[in-house]
Amino acid sequence: ARITLRQLLDHAAEHGYGVPAFNINNMEQGLAIMEAAAAADAPVIIQASRGARSYANDIMLSRMIDALEEMHPQIPICLHQDHGNEESTCATALQHGFTSVMMDGSLKADAKTAADYDYNVDITRRVVELAHWIGASVEGELGVLGSLEHGGGEQEDGHGVEGEVSHDQLLTDPDQAVDFVRATKVDALAIAMGTSHGAYKFSRKPDGDILAMRVVEEIHRRLPNTHLVMHGSSSVPQPLQDAFNAFGGEMPQTWGVPVEEIVRGIRHGVRKVNIDTDCRLAMTAAFRKVATQSKSEFDPRKFLKPAMDALRDLCRDRFEQFGTAGHA
Ligand code: G3H
Ligand code: 13P
Ligand code: ZN
Repeated sequence: ARITLRQLLDHAAEHGYGVPAFNINNMEQGLAIMEAAAAADAPVIIQASRGARSYANDIMLSRMIDALEEMHPQIPICLHQDHGNEESTCATALQHGFTSVMMDGSLKADAKTAADYDYNVDITRRVVELAHWIGASVEGELGVLGSLEHGGGEQEDGHGVEGEVSHDQLLTDPDQAVDFVRATKVDALAIAMGTSHGAYKFSRKPDGDILAMRVVEEIHRRLPNTHLVMHGSSSVPQPLQDAFNAFGGEMPQTWGVPVEEIVRGIRHGVRKVNIDTDCRLAMTAAFRKVATQSKSEFDPRKFLKPAMDALRDLCRDRFEQFGTAGHA
């Protein structure tokens, strides 16, 4: 059954677990994520970026989710717009059966000015009004994702942040978070604590200087009833890096967000955990293996099936680690 983000995260808060939000672009990812959810008996958030929507087509995406629901009627699915950048992006997502949208008003931040903050509050509040009229949920974001280690400024969603990002924007300000939630009535709040999108988050295993989980704890203390969202939460596991590189990949050594730090976040109000990079890496490492080991192979299924299995195993691990398993 399709449920809203609010319904799912309220349940998660009540029972103290977190829910991974996996990005989807195609049928294989949908099948693999749902196979894992069914095996773990876990509810799931499936999210589509603007890029995913234009890659797969809105009609195809929404019919795919219909099919996945029909195949797994016992699994609650929240279909969520990842990083909506305009009201119209959110409105058209809702039209296509999304039960939740992210209005990312932090994407336009070009300096930590009052005008940027007001823009974020205004547009997020308007999207909340629209979505709540039809019973859908909204995630807002306050703070800019970006590496504390590298001084920030890298792309937020693959589309680039406009202009300069100051160091203090890389960590969400707790006072501002309280004001933002009150002013917008968002169902969930994405906060910045030093993670960034993609594989290259940290050049060493992160400590408190570069991954500021204390910010999560402080915001949760101030907003105990707000569902917090962690973006950029791929762990970029060493075994996946090794598997990718063992078959001709050239990924420089990198560190992601350790699962134990996410689990710590879940103890402090984090309910939605966004994961895309790990899913991509699991699948493409499997493609590389087939491409390298079976050079005469040209049946795409022979590439895609091992890729699906690798994605399924990754998703299953996260359902277990985040405590989502058993809550469908
Ligand atoms: O927010 C970033 C997600 O990983 C989606 O990436 O815009 O390339 O689909 P994308
Ligand atoms: P990763 O790149 O760490 O997987 O983050 C994904 C994300 O935040 C999608 O919104
Ligand atoms: Zn994100």
